[in-house]
Amino acid sequence: MAVTAVPERTARQQPRPSVGSVASSAPAPLLQVEGLKTQFPTRGGWLTAVNEVSFELAPGTVLGVLGESGSGKSAMLRTILGLQPKSARISGEVILEGRDLIAMSARERAAMRGSSVSMVFQDPMTALDPVFSVEQQLVETIRRHHPMSGEEARGRALELLHLVQIPSPERRLKAYPYELSGGMRQRIVIAMALVSNPTLLLADEPTTALDVTVQARVLDLFHELKGREGMSIIFVTHDLSVAAEIADEIAVMYAGRIVEQGSVEELVRSPQHPYTRGLLEANVRPGQADRPEAIRGAPPNLANLPPGCSFAPRCDLVEDACWSALPEPVHVSASHFARCRLVTASESN
Ligand SMILES: Nc1ncnc2c1ncn2[C@@H]1O[C@H](COP(=O)(O)OP(=O)(O)O)[C@@H](O)[C@H]1O
Ligand SMILES: [Mg+2]
Repeated sequence: MAVTAVPERTARQQPRPSVGSVASSAPAPLLQVEGLKTQFPTRGGWLTAVNEVSFELAPGTVLGVLGESGSGKSAMLRTILGLQPKSARISGEVILEGRDLIAMSARERAAMRGSSVSMVFQDPMTALDPVFSVEQQLVETIRRHHPMSGEEARGRALELLHLVQIPSPERRLKAYPYELSGGMRQRIVIAMALVSNPTLLLADEPTTALDVTVQARVLDLFHELKGREGMSIIFVTHDLSVAAEIADEIAVMYAGRIVEQGSVEELVRSPQHPYTRGLLEANVRPGQADRPEAIRGAPPNLANLPPGCSFAPRCDLVEDACWSALPEPVHVSASHFARCRLVTASESN
């Protein structure tokens, strides 16, 4: 299985094998996130944006992280990348290629950002400087990572534009960001993220700002990149059909927690958590005219989470016990779990 769900309890109770020593045919994980917690100080107290999140990611695989706005998806990516403000309270482990990104110094983390891990943000305009041409920005980024002549860097920039399937790359190099379409701009941003040849690419809603046809083409590009040797991707989206299209596995985030995780097939064919079922029902299918009903209610206040299941106030199946105890992950297969007390564990697990 490509991406393995690690329920935090089990992971804590057992000694974690070192990255190089994972037995069996499963490749050693590229990334191990364990008990990751991110809190921000607010006037209403500590706001828990990422709440004890644990998962593993194998080389060359794509984890889709799915959830409504405000569920902690961006906060999780920014924490992994070390981009949170100093005021944030962060705990847990993010082990990339055997090194803990949380425990290392800011300087070491910045070095990792320039090499092993990079990020594509939602809005390509914020990642590009409007006053410099594509060539100036790309060449500068390339030379920051690899000392080389301007001419060599320009050659590398052209290669990268080919890689992200930009037509007429020579002409596009000369362009300024405002002269390019949204889709072209996002391809340039993706090219910039690939400069350091990262083993881990974090993509935060990279297609959300694009219109539907362009979105499909940029998703095709991610498909191509996915085939590149060893690069793993965490692809954040609020759109289930996008997650199903690009990911090997999906983690559903609700109120800062992963409430369900499994392979795309498992999740789409047999969603277990009432929240995941709601997302599936709310998903517009091709050819469907009316927008289906969204899940009723709104996500909880992350600065004041109720005890018990965070989804209880919106759940049609809620029972008395849901209000008191936080549901533990229930495994329906070795690779599929949901945090809901109404889910029945599979016999074989
Ligand atoms: N730097 C910050 N300071 C305070 N609150 C933050 C900060 N970053 C994110 N949050 C809060 O964390 C929660 C999760 O936000 P976010 O991760 O952006 O959600 P998503 O990406 O799933 O839409 C939100 O309530 C948001 O307001
Ligand atoms: Mg976000």
